[in-house]
Amino acid sequence: AQKSLAPRPPMGWSSWNKFATNIDDTTIRQIADAMVSSGLRDAGYIYVNIDDGWQGERDAAGVLHPNAHFPDMKDLADYVHARGLKLGLYSGPGPKTCAGYEGAYGHVAQDARTFAEWGVDYLKYDLCSGEAFYNTAETVYATYQQMGEALKAPGRDIVYSLCQYGRFDVGSWGRDVGGHLWRTTGDIEDTYAKMSSIGFDKNGVPNHTGPNGWNDPDMLEVGNGGMTHDEYRTHMSLWALLAAPLILGNDVRDMTPETVALLTNSEVIAVDQDPLGAQGLPVKKDGAAEIWVKPLSNGKAVGLFNRGETPLTITGTWTELCISGASVRDLWTGTETSAGDGFSYVIPPHGAVLVKVK
Ligand code: DGJ
Repeated sequence: AQKSLAPRPPMGWSSWNKFATNIDDTTIRQIADAMVSSGLRDAGYIYVNIDDGWQGERDAAGVLHPNAHFPDMKDLADYVHARGLKLGLYSGPGPKTCAGYEGAYGHVAQDARTFAEWGVDYLKYDLCSGEAFYNTAETVYATYQQMGEALKAPGRDIVYSLCQYGRFDVGSWGRDVGGHLWRTTGDIEDTYAKMSSIGFDKNGVPNHTGPNGWNDPDMLEVGNGGMTHDEYRTHMSLWALLAAPLILGNDVRDMTPETVALLTNSEVIAVDQDPLGAQGLPVKKDGAAEIWVKPLSNGKAVGLFNRGETPLTITGTWTELCISGASVRDLWTGTETSAGDGFSYVIPPHGAVLVKVK
């Protein structure tokens, strides 16, 4: 039987959102150190993923080597592992990746063996320029299946992240090709407009998600500076309700206390990581107000959102949301009250309240 590598949504960090291709060995080592010293690792963020831009050339035998910014990938993996973290890498099925680096085309099994030899624990496989070759449901399935098989062959546990921007109905077959997560959308950006359009509306088919196969609405932008604190709280609240992979996209060497608090709130993370693995759903939409509910193994998480530009009061009863429970805990403020008959929350523009009712 296949070992379960992603019983909960994967958590970690990726270089792309903050650094794009401006990455090197030293930066990744510093990031790994900061994951530990900041408490992020202990909060559950264990993957350190190098996205596009690490690849160099192939040698005469076709073996892929990292570029000059990464002198020794195995040594880097050892460094990451020694800190209780796991290493992720990036590739794609085309001859070149999105950023123009060497892809796996014609070398799929060979590259998978190389990754395993280095000690890689996670691979993001990005369709991108491979679209010239793989552009129908059948060919895209086949090429993702090919890498899925190749990753299993060396016998190393490697989480497999499918990146094809939510196209080709990937959620319905991602598991069949060995995938553990698959993107539901094009790229996120560090703006409320983009983040909210993905989080509220491009988050995948809910019943595709669950233990060992997760809808991936893309990586986090918390801490990158383009949104307000309330907007980043909405970002985290939504991703937790969606049971989304939590892959950080900021410079974790340089975080404000507010950013650390948003990223390491253990009760919010527990909503995301709940063993049921259910994706939250909107249960009420009324103008700028939205209420989302995620069933948990021990209660329900409820997100109340204000998508508008002015403060909004959202009132209602738990019964009308089909929720029963004795206590209501506000997961961002840590205050707990008795459930009573109803609720009334004042929510700032673009803001969110996230509670757990049990
Ligand atoms: C497109 C993906 O969607 C991004 O997350 C990132 O991996 C870039 N490609 C890298 O080129």
